Amino acid sequence: MTELRELNTKYADVFGPRTVSHYFSPGRINLIGEHTDYNGGHVFPASITYGTYGLASKRDDDKILVYSTNFEEIGVVSFTLDELDYDKNANWANYVKGMVLKLKEAGHKIDSGFELLVEGTIPNGAGLSSSASLELLVGVVLEDLFNLDVTRLELVQTGKKVENEFIGVNSGIMDQFAIGFGEKDHAILLDTNTLDYEMVPVVLGDYAVVIMNTNKRRELADSKYNERRSECEKALELLQTELDIQSLGELDEKTFEDHEHLIGDPTLIKRAKHAVTENERTLIAKKELVAGNLEAFGKLLNASHASLKDDYEVTGIELDTLAETAQEQAGCLGARMTGAGFGGCAIALVKEDAIPTFKNNVYDEYIKVVGYAPDFYVAHIGDGSRKLDK
Ligand code: GLA
Repeated sequence: MTELRELNTKYADVFGPRTVSHYFSPGRINLIGEHTDYNGGHVFPASITYGTYGLASKRDDDKILVYSTNFEEIGVVSFTLDELDYDKNANWANYVKGMVLKLKEAGHKIDSGFELLVEGTIPNGAGLSSSASLELLVGVVLEDLFNLDVTRLELVQTGKKVENEFIGVNSGIMDQFAIGFGEKDHAILLDTNTLDYEMVPVVLGDYAVVIMNTNKRRELADSKYNERRSECEKALELLQTELDIQSLGELDEKTFEDHEHLIGDPTLIKRAKHAVTENERTLIAKKELVAGNLEAFGKLLNASHASLKDDYEVTGIELDTLAETAQEQAGCLGARMTGAGFGGCAIALVKEDAIPTFKNNVYDEYIKVVGYAPDFYVAHIGDGSRKLDK
């Protein structure tokens, strides 16, 4: 583990010689079930081997010192246990502040400071959940350093709370759940209404999931994410004038079509239609994957992208060029944007021996249309957030 050895040296350079513990928290891809997690629908994500490494040790005073090798220009960010308010200048360290604050508010005893060095291998702003990865990393660090009696679900829910109440993104629970509960070679079919979940083996044979990065950066707090969420809430309220439902996830397509006149506004109808049809696609996709019907699974990926493009309108030229060019390539069974959209990444299910040609063709088309280069990585599904030392 050269990487960890290098990080040990870095830690000593930044904070001084210490005995440190090592942790890792993954990023995630979502196979299908997009923008359904705040609509009481199903999602089907998996944790990946890209993620965030953390090295930490406890201090005797109340100072919290954090350093990220991804933001070396920012240097060490320092605050005390009494300075846990959101602070724009604290930049990425706000995720640390948020996790400490929310766990303390829940009654967990964090009674001294600590040092934390992090290194993320997830491209920042790529829609692979670098922020949830960091939240859960801090969660497992605090759990371990302070011997917290905290369940995995509570850490996951605390991460979501930080995102919603501290950072200001009204996200659902998918990212934190996928990252906290991830298992090697499995995807998680999660019912976001009940939080019931099922670990589903991802067996792809000769195929692999290729992640395609638009390299278009976006911050969710500034994107139309929160707007989409309120559009769905408005549509739900209008449906509730006649239907006894708590979320769009409870509706099948037929019932939705019979009642869409209640919504009236064509834009709101499209938003709700996506939430309803995507939830249905997710359940079918899980069945097709389990049955080994990769072709049918791939078609559902394509249909998901089309719905996110036309009805939910969260794709844009970059994601459309990647996904739609990918869909046309030999050996590709399906492709779609993954995560929130508006930039970030798309995924494609591609036959392994076709990947080099696939990449070249998609690359060339993307450069032609968008004007700068995309990146490609093969996704490996790895375990969830954890301590690395035995
Ligand atoms: C972001 C959010 C998730 C989810 C996806 C869209 O990743 O953090 O909660 O809503 O977008 O599916």
